[in-house]
Amino acid sequence: DDYELGGHSDFMRKEMAEQAEAIARALAGRLDERFATAHLGGLGLDPMALRAIKRVKFLGCGSAYYAGQMGATLVEELARIPADAEPASEFRYRNPVVDPDTLYVAISQSGETLDTLAAVQELRRKGGRVIGAVNVVGSAIARECGSGVFLHAGPEVSVASTKALTNMTVSFAMLGLLLGRVRDLSAASGQRIVAGLRALPERVARIVAEDAEIERIAKRFADARHMFFLGRVRGWPVAREGAQKLKEISYVHAEAYQAAELKHGPLALIDAEMPSVVIVPDDELLTKNIGTIEQIRARGGPVIAVTNADLPDGLADEVIRVPRGEPELDPILLTIPLQLLAYHTAKALGRDIDKPRNLAKSVTVE
Ligand code: AGP
Repeated sequence: DDYELGGHSDFMRKEMAEQAEAIARALAGRLDERFATAHLGGLGLDPMALRAIKRVKFLGCGSAYYAGQMGATLVEELARIPADAEPASEFRYRNPVVDPDTLYVAISQSGETLDTLAAVQELRRKGGRVIGAVNVVGSAIARECGSGVFLHAGPEVSVASTKALTNMTVSFAMLGLLLGRVRDLSAASGQRIVAGLRALPERVARIVAEDAEIERIAKRFADARHMFFLGRVRGWPVAREGAQKLKEISYVHAEAYQAAELKHGPLALIDAEMPSVVIVPDDELLTKNIGTIEQIRARGGPVIAVTNADLPDGLADEVIRVPRGEPELDPILLTIPLQLLAYHTAKALGRDIDKPRNLAKSVTVE
């Protein structure tokens, strides 16, 4: 084990540190500067088939579902095709209407998650077109789908998924780019996304390497019994994934909410004992998110802002900064510090990082 850990204290730490090289592997040979697009040969779809796709639906469980939600936002933004995500665990039970013009994407690190496999089988029974976004080559979901995009994250041991999740969203950015470039995404915009993807490994490495500040913040709030994670649009699936990570490995109750929904009920929970992590991308919703932080603080709630924007001094109690990138790719970078926040909180509480209670790395039962 010591050898495999490569000097790291646990696999989650090691796998977070491997993210830059994992992203580089996912991008290798797939980005095309000249035509400002991505090549995803494993999809087996030519430009006419890509153009015929009218909708995209992502299916996955847990963090894979949240990655799918980030994927849906990316596909809608880059390709302007309606896209959404649904928990694979619900899909087969609700007698879904399967649409022949929809591209279904089954997402799974392990490729063995029973609920996701069952969703794929239901889709195939009904004649749906389903591709896989899978890490483990030769796994049940990869075989059942027969085509798709491999994540190339390398082996992931820690129950809490980090590098595989990151490579899911990186792959969906490439899918969005490809679908966009056979439609109305301009070459200039495509080039901007290609450059943004190329810059990701270095930016992610910087966040992981410079985590002393996140460790300090995690220790400051480690005694909290409950936490909110709030975000809008691009920040919303990021908030959901951040809450999931914290619950999973630290056992602190965390609830994710769309920032604008706060005033419709949950605002009543805000007090000095309820810290909120607010995801603040530097995008057109910046002033809305600043307003959310002001509302929380006016009611005595502590705020940790996770941002790539320049926020007014003193706006939040703590600020976790990430490097600026292309706005569409913000969810990828904004997710990384939340892994570290969960990790350092769990460490401060003395939890078993790699093997949280009651959980298995891959859920092969109903
Ligand atoms: C992630 O941190 C979780 N352990 C969990 O939600 C996981 O993403 C989910 O069980 C799906 O697993 P899969 O990607 O192997 O299908």
